[in-house]
Amino acid sequence: MSNIVIISGSPAVVSRSSAISKLVKDVLVTNGNKVEEIAVRNLPAEDLLYANFNSPAIQQAKALVEQADGVIIVSPVYKASYPGVLKAFLDLIPEKGLANKVVLPIATAGTIAHLLALEYAFKPLFSVLGTRDVTDGVYIVDSQVAYTEHELTFVDIEVEQRLGDAITQLQVRLQQKEAQASR
Ligand SMILES: Cc1cc2nc3c(=O)[nH]c(=O)nc-3n(C[C@H](O)[C@H](O)[C@H](O)COP(=O)(O)O)c2cc1C
Repeated sequence: MSNIVIISGSPAVVSRSSAISKLVKDVLVTNGNKVEEIAVRNLPAEDLLYANFNSPAIQQAKALVEQADGVIIVSPVYKASYPGVLKAFLDLIPEKGLANKVVLPIATAGTIAHLLALEYAFKPLFSVLGTRDVTDGVYIVDSQVAYTEHELTFVDIEVEQRLGDAITQLQVRLQQKEAQASR
């Protein structure tokens, strides 16, 4: 069993990436992992805007990240990068706050044109936060899923498969690290 935290980066109430967070969480919980979720949109807006490091809600969310072995960032692509609200939260994480953690990025986007945002925007951010262990990211274009407020299903079976493979890869990597640590 691994401790995993999912950080949902969308500011939207009705959100594809949040629906994907829920799917991912369900799979991980079914597989016996302990999973927490941080929806950045639910953190106090003023604390994010003014970088209030002492905010109890922010401290609580940071503690969840600190305790996790694996971190999954599920976020929409905004302006060929990540949404400002996600960055506002990650700015409050200590320097090297993702060190020794395995990170899986999952992005949803309107167009395939910004696929490389995972490489040039998301990955440098994880790197500066100290992780060297980023598993293969998943990029999901809106047209590859059917989404209503209540349900998300995959139109593109290949992307569903890629998401499943990415979850498996994360779990295997976490198990390898646990085995190494107990030697
Ligand atoms: C303000 C804003 C900016 C966006 N910028 C991009 C973009 O640069 N590239 C892209 O592919 N999609 C872009 N999109 C589309 C979203 O990434 C896409 O619809 C995503 O699935 C939304 O996720 P959410 O429903 O979880 O918020 C943008 C959407 C919004 C609202």
